[in-house]
Amino acid sequence: MDIKTTIVNSLSAVLADELNNTEIKNLLEVPKSSKLGDYAFPTFILAKSRHQAPQKIAQELVEQLDHEPYEKIEATGAYVNFFLNKGNFAEATLQTILTSGDQYGDSQVGQAGNVPIDMSSPNIAKPMSMGHLRSTVIGNALANIYKKIGYQPIKINYLGDWGTQFGKLIVGYHKWGSEAEIKEDPIGNLLKYYVHFHEAAEKDPELDDEGRAWFKKLEDGDPEATHLWEWFRGLSLAEFQKIYDRLGIEFDSFNGEAYYNDKMDPVVDELKAKNLLQESRGAQIVDLTDENLTPALIKRSDGATLYITRDLAAATDRYNKFHFAKSLYVVGSEQTEHFKQLKAVLKKMGDDWSDDIIHVPFGLITKDGKKLSTRKGNVVLLDKVLDEAVDLAKQQIAAKNPDLAHADQVAHQVGVGAVIFHDLKNDRLDSFDFSLGEVVRFEGETGPYVQYSNARAQSILRKAKREVNLDDVLNLADPNAWDTIKYLADFPAMVLRAANEYEPSVIAKYALRLAKTFNKYYANSKILVEDDQLNARLALVKATSQVLQQSLALLGVQAPDEM
Ligand code: ARG
Repeated sequence: MDIKTTIVNSLSAVLADELNNTEIKNLLEVPKSSKLGDYAFPTFILAKSRHQAPQKIAQELVEQLDHEPYEKIEATGAYVNFFLNKGNFAEATLQTILTSGDQYGDSQVGQAGNVPIDMSSPNIAKPMSMGHLRSTVIGNALANIYKKIGYQPIKINYLGDWGTQFGKLIVGYHKWGSEAEIKEDPIGNLLKYYVHFHEAAEKDPELDDEGRAWFKKLEDGDPEATHLWEWFRGLSLAEFQKIYDRLGIEFDSFNGEAYYNDKMDPVVDELKAKNLLQESRGAQIVDLTDENLTPALIKRSDGATLYITRDLAAATDRYNKFHFAKSLYVVGSEQTEHFKQLKAVLKKMGDDWSDDIIHVPFGLITKDGKKLSTRKGNVVLLDKVLDEAVDLAKQQIAAKNPDLAHADQVAHQVGVGAVIFHDLKNDRLDSFDFSLGEVVRFEGETGPYVQYSNARAQSILRKAKREVNLDDVLNLADPNAWDTIKYLADFPAMVLRAANEYEPSVIAKYALRLAKTFNKYYANSKILVEDDQLNARLALVKATSQVLQQSLALLGVQAPDEM
C-alpha cells in the first residue's frame, strides 16, 4: 500500500462522517521540512461544522488516531503531522519492489480494454518533422504506460498519405522532377518539388487547379496517378522506418488516410440518411453552430473528400474493430478544433462512443521563435538531430570512459535517449524553442543523467560481489536514505497519474527526482561497508536501479548497465 493510502485509511477511521477518502487524500500535504513529518493534514476545513478552533481539532484527532503504523503523530498548530516508521516502511517498500521485479507498479485498472493510439502519423513525401517526433515518442510512452495498468494499447501510424498535396506533388514532379533525382534522395527531392510548387502557385493560381485535378484522378483510381503515389509512398515510408528503427519504436498498424479512400461512402451515406448533410456553395457540410464550432467540410464542390471525412471513417472503423475503452489521438494542439469537430459530428450521428475519443494535444516546437514550416523549408531534420546526439555521446564516452565495452551501442542508447527524454520531460502542452545544444545536453535534468544514475547503481552492485538477501535485514532507518525510499514507494501512484493525465512527463520528472535523491544519498553515505545494514543498503541500490530502469522503459529510453 502506498504511504498516502495508509494515512487516508487512518484518518478516515475517525473522520468518515465528515469527509470521504478522496477529500481526505486531496487535503494531505507534504510539509516543507521533514522535521514536520512526512505528511500533514490541515484541519481548517472542519472548524466551521464543528464550531471549534482548528488547533483544538488537531489535538483531538491526535488522541483519536491509531498510532500503531507510525513513528509518531503530532499536532502542530492547525495540522496533524504524521511521521512514518522509517525502518518498517523501508522494509515493506524494498520487499515489495524486489519481489515484484518488472511488475512493480502494475495494475489491472484497464481490465484488458483496447486503447488504439493514433500516433506519429507523418505526411508522405515530406520529412518527418519535430512535431511528428513529439507525437511518436509521447504516443509510444502512453502505450507503455497504458499497458502497465492493464489496457491493450494498439499503436496506429495514421500516415498522411492522401489529400490534395499528392495532386500538387504529381504536378511538381511532372514539371520539375526526374526519376534519377528521386532515387538519389527521395524525401529531399519530393519536398523540393512541393516547395517549388507553392512558390510557383503564388504567381500562377492555375497550378492549384491542376493539382486538384490530379488528386481527383488519384481518388478515381487513374493508373498513372496511382503508380506515382505508390512510388512516393513506398520511398517515404522506407525513410520513416529508418527513424523508427533508430528510436526503437514499432507500430501495430500503418493504415493511413489512403486506407480509407474507399471506406468513406458509408459514412457520407449515413450523414445523408440522418439529415446531417447540408449543401453550402456546392460543398457538403455538417453544420456545428450549436456546438460553437465551424462547419465540418465533408465533400468539396468537385466531390473530393477531406481530412475530416477520412477521420470519420477511421474513427468508426476503429470502434467496429476494437470496441475501444478509449481511443487516443496524439496530435499537436493546432488541431484541437479538428478533433472537436470530429467528436461533434460522430455525436450527432448518435455514436455515444465518441465520448471516449480523446485528443491528446501537445505544444508546438518553434525555431528562433518562428513556427516550423515544411512549405517554407524552415525544418529541423530529425535524422540530423539524432546523428548529432549520438556523436556527442561518442565524444563523451571517448573522453570519460575510453575502455567502455560496446561503446558504439552505448553511444546510440545515450544519444537517442537524450533526444527522447528531452521531448518527454516537459509538460506535454508546453511549447518550446528548438535548440540542438539543449537536446544533446547530458548534464542536469536530462535522460543521460538518469541513465548515468542507473549505471552508477549497477556499478555499486557489481562491486558488492554479493546478492541482496530478501530474508536478511531490510529495515533501513538511515535518514539519508529516507527521501529515496519515499520516492520509490510513490512509483505506482505516478504511473496511474501519468495515465490519467495522458502525461509521460510525470514519469520523466519522477525519474529525475529519484535519480537526484539517490545521487545525494550516494554522496553522503558509505554503501559498501561491512555492517548489519549492508544488505539493506544494497537492497535500496538495487530497488532504485530497478525503478529507474522501469521509468526509462516506460518512456521508451534504454538503460545501459555501464556508460
Ligand atoms: N498527418 C497529420 C499531420 O501531420 C496528422 C494526423 C493525425 N491523426 C489523425 N487521425 N488525424 O498533420
